[in-house]
Amino acid sequence: MKKIILMLVCLPMFVFACKGSKNVEETTVTPPSSITKSSFGQTRDSIAVDMYTLKNENGMEVKIITYGGIITNWTAPDKNGKYEDIVLGFDSISGYMRGSPYFGALIGRFGNRIAKGKFSINGQQYTLAGNNMGNHLHGGLKGFDKVVWKAEPMEGKEPALKLTYLSKDMEEGYPGNLSCTVIYTLTADNSVKIDYSATTDKETIVNLTNHSYFNLNANQGTILDHMVTINSDKYLPVSRTLIPTGELRPVANTPFDFTTPYAVGARINDTTDQQIVFGGGYDHAYILKGDGKLNLAATVVAPSSGRKMEVFTTEPAIQFYSGNFLDGKLTGKNGVKYVKRSGLCLESEHYPDAPNQPAFPSVALKPGETYKTSTVYKFSVVK
Ligand code: GLA
Repeated sequence: MKKIILMLVCLPMFVFACKGSKNVEETTVTPPSSITKSSFGQTRDSIAVDMYTLKNENGMEVKIITYGGIITNWTAPDKNGKYEDIVLGFDSISGYMRGSPYFGALIGRFGNRIAKGKFSINGQQYTLAGNNMGNHLHGGLKGFDKVVWKAEPMEGKEPALKLTYLSKDMEEGYPGNLSCTVIYTLTADNSVKIDYSATTDKETIVNLTNHSYFNLNANQGTILDHMVTINSDKYLPVSRTLIPTGELRPVANTPFDFTTPYAVGARINDTTDQQIVFGGGYDHAYILKGDGKLNLAATVVAPSSGRKMEVFTTEPAIQFYSGNFLDGKLTGKNGVKYVKRSGLCLESEHYPDAPNQPAFPSVALKPGETYKTSTVYKFSVVK
């Protein structure tokens, strides 16, 4: 009898162990697409970090690690059809843990800044880490970029990886147990779709994004020659410490006008514009339609490689950050030194400091509601 009970108890474990060790490549997606899993070392507190490689039928590859949900490698074709890595990052886990400027990471609970790290919900004040010039940035000292997410390859035609993370009540000072899911899907048309969702058991604030730094010249040199178009006629000017002033300023006749394609470098040193000075270049939220549909937010073309990236999002804003804080001190993949402006970010988001600015679209999430946003990065070539 004892033996039978032992068998019944152990059988599910055995089945689970087999499932866990199965080659995910065979089971989840339609070949020649694939998802494979490998080890990417461990965190300082000895938590194993896995890497999942998503590959589509064209040969495009995206590598995601469970630490921070970071996209470490992402290939896209150039005008000759050559697939090369187009994101900044490190070769090993130690690089990411040693003070990465959020390369490729999931950001939460709140992307970008909250003034002085303070906000209130129903009269109750909350205080968060002032980790950036006295303001709160990107979720705090141990944001979603520094936690290990649970990963699960998804069944279906296209390679997709589901990441989940439960952020406990008052983690980093935020109220409510926040249950988060992020799904990365690599599609047949060379897009990476990121679907974010979250629920809470107590009213809280949420603003999730991904902080990939792109360099469409396969991480060679700067992004100053990249031609950028942003589907927006207004942006949020900021204070010296990069908190939105509350004004929605027209981009017309300023270096912020990307309604037609401009090289990033064309006006980036125009210090007659105070906002260029405050940002040290571009580091501003652009206002989008934000009607909940996947609208085209921005297009980036690198003329020499011919790579083109389009960003679509359901979000009401996109942060255009031109890598101004990179200073050549970080050495990344393949020994490349990341000099100033060697990568650019287009982070879909709600408005920075929204919890303190009632005129901005709300970032509140209440029990019973589901936070849901999507962003797509689509690659193609121009000849
Ligand atoms: C965001 C911010 C920038 C900077 C980077 C990370 O894009 O807006 O000011 O903090 O993240 O270095």
